Amino acid sequence: MTNKKLSIYKVSEFDGMRKAGRLAAETLDYITPFVVPGVTTGQLDEKLEEFMRDNGGIPATIGYHGYPKASCISANHIVCHGIPGDKVLHEGDIINIDITPIVDGWHGDTSRMYFVGEKISVKARRLVQNAFDTMWAGINECKIGHTLGDAGHAMEACAHRQGFSVVEDYCGHGVGKVFHAMPNVLNYGTPGEGEKIQEGMIFTVEPMVNAGRSATLTLSDGWTVITKDRSLSAQFEHSIGITEKGPEIFTLSPKGWNCPPYK
Ligand code: MF3
Ligand code: CO
Ligand code: CO
Repeated sequence: MTNKKLSIYKVSEFDGMRKAGRLAAETLDYITPFVVPGVTTGQLDEKLEEFMRDNGGIPATIGYHGYPKASCISANHIVCHGIPGDKVLHEGDIINIDITPIVDGWHGDTSRMYFVGEKISVKARRLVQNAFDTMWAGINECKIGHTLGDAGHAMEACAHRQGFSVVEDYCGHGVGKVFHAMPNVLNYGTPGEGEKIQEGMIFTVEPMVNAGRSATLTLSDGWTVITKDRSLSAQFEHSIGITEKGPEIFTLSPKGWNCPPYK
């Protein structure tokens, strides 16, 4: 972790991230109408992979430390790294889909929440909206001169305001020509502490927010991370780059489908 290089580029190189980020966001848009009760996570993954490849993207997750699929699909109390497979989605489920197409060597890493059907509990809706707001609270601190502690603190505060917790075991990361680089972008922190945010940095902001406690555990498949107390978990992720004008978001939805319900 600590010997990874800091992900910092020239703003004039951001075009590569714009392309990769756009394909990532288009892929999440593309899959939206297929997220319905009865579909399996494996079927969604197959469609995503086909769309990515047809549009010039290579899924970065396949073969990444042995990971087998083109996406991570994490339902309900799964925090992250859910492996797509035979799991059938049901009315009322909330899921996160996380993908990273590589385009011309650049990695566009993004995830969104989706509602399965329409009967989503009030608690699940509140959690999903809060995870979205938490991500934006973090992104809005990502300005030259601020620190990653400012962003982490803003995220933690946003989640806590509604009685939720942030996951501390996983974090955002530098991204760009490599999938996971420095800096670590923690979902909690102290204002003024941590790495100084500089022009040209490219990293993800990807808080996971739990309805219950923050603790997680990994299942015996070696990947699937769940909340230890089995409470619901939600996450959104954008890849961003720092310019003198503030954060540039590479993975915004062209359709405006950034937070569910998507209509
Ligand atoms: N996309 C995830 C992230 O946001 C990483 C997934 S790695 C995998 O960093 F191997 F689990 F796919
Ligand atoms: Co990421
Ligand atoms: Co991701």
